[in-house]
Amino acid sequence: MKGLILSGGKGTRLRPITFTSAKQLVPVGNKPILFYGIEALVASGIKEIGIIVGDTHKDIKAAVGDGSKWNIKVTYIQQDAPRGLAHAVMIAEDFMDGNDFVMYLGDNMIMSGVQEFIEGFNKAKPDASILLAHVPNPSSFGVAELDGEKVVKLVEKPKEPKSDLALVGVYLFSNEIFKAVKSIEPSPRNELEITDAIQWLIENSYNVSFTIIKGWWKDTGKLNDMLEANRMVLDTIQTEIKGSISEDSEIHGRVRIADNVEVKNSIIRGPVVIGEGTKIINSYIGPYTSISEGCYINESEIEHSIILQNSRIDSIETRIEGSLLGKNVKVSKSKSKPRSNRFMVGDNSEIIIL
Ligand code: G1P
Repeated sequence: MKGLILSGGKGTRLRPITFTSAKQLVPVGNKPILFYGIEALVASGIKEIGIIVGDTHKDIKAAVGDGSKWNIKVTYIQQDAPRGLAHAVMIAEDFMDGNDFVMYLGDNMIMSGVQEFIEGFNKAKPDASILLAHVPNPSSFGVAELDGEKVVKLVEKPKEPKSDLALVGVYLFSNEIFKAVKSIEPSPRNELEITDAIQWLIENSYNVSFTIIKGWWKDTGKLNDMLEANRMVLDTIQTEIKGSISEDSEIHGRVRIADNVEVKNSIIRGPVVIGEGTKIINSYIGPYTSISEGCYINESEIEHSIILQNSRIDSIETRIEGSLLGKNVKVSKSKSKPRSNRFMVGDNSEIIIL
């Protein structure tokens, strides 16, 4: 079995972060989301992964490389435009070379991994297998209608969903899927939908099986989903402290602090991860916060947030919460009069002030 990870797309719901970086590379727990997908496939014994890339191909290639850091072979497959998940499958046909494959959407996170799902597929050998999860908002997903052990119908983002079972972004396919993706028409959003391709298999009497996922799963396309993914990952970390912590600082709970981190006169209440070279001075870092490498936090309080590389937060009196700050962001207190808010922010930024 080979792997296919989808890492194209424009990430419009995460702008402005995605103006300068691929959404799949936004870190949760200081590790790009995409790496959790790669590692889930590697843990299931997959040795060859094709990664579908789009406009952000340079960043993805720079971050993932040739796969040797996971002892696997990575092949990049360029998609000329976001033409849909079924189109991505279509252009991967040569790479699959007759093998069954697992397709994993690069912005999805599945805590339980995918090994059991793959083992089930290898035993039962259906033509395709889908993973489903109960969700409160099914109209935002592909939705499955079941009849006992049978998948009766799949509809992409239905206005009136027939169930609360969403298609999770992990699929298992035999080579029959290539017939399906060539037989369907573009959807109203002008994409070839994988949901429609699997529906084509059902209509043409192919065998489509399903598994309902029990553990935690998230499609991390939006800020709140990202923060929740960060929370789930941080809930699993173990304490590991490498940097230097001054005697007047306090560390509570599970905290991972990388090399060359300096913590001075501060309180860190885990779960928290702090990346290499970051300085935390006279500050409070609260639960569910990931601070990337090279940041500077002074006289400030941060909780339940993700702060990306080389950002500076200086002398902010009000606690920063539920926030995602990009790379090289500066947030500081005005030192001169008149006392006022001053901004230089990119397109599609969102600022909420007290
Ligand atoms: C895609 C699929 C959808 C699936 C979802 C899972 O949606 O089209 O069927 O439920 O991924 O994350 P998209 O992220 O393209 O809106």
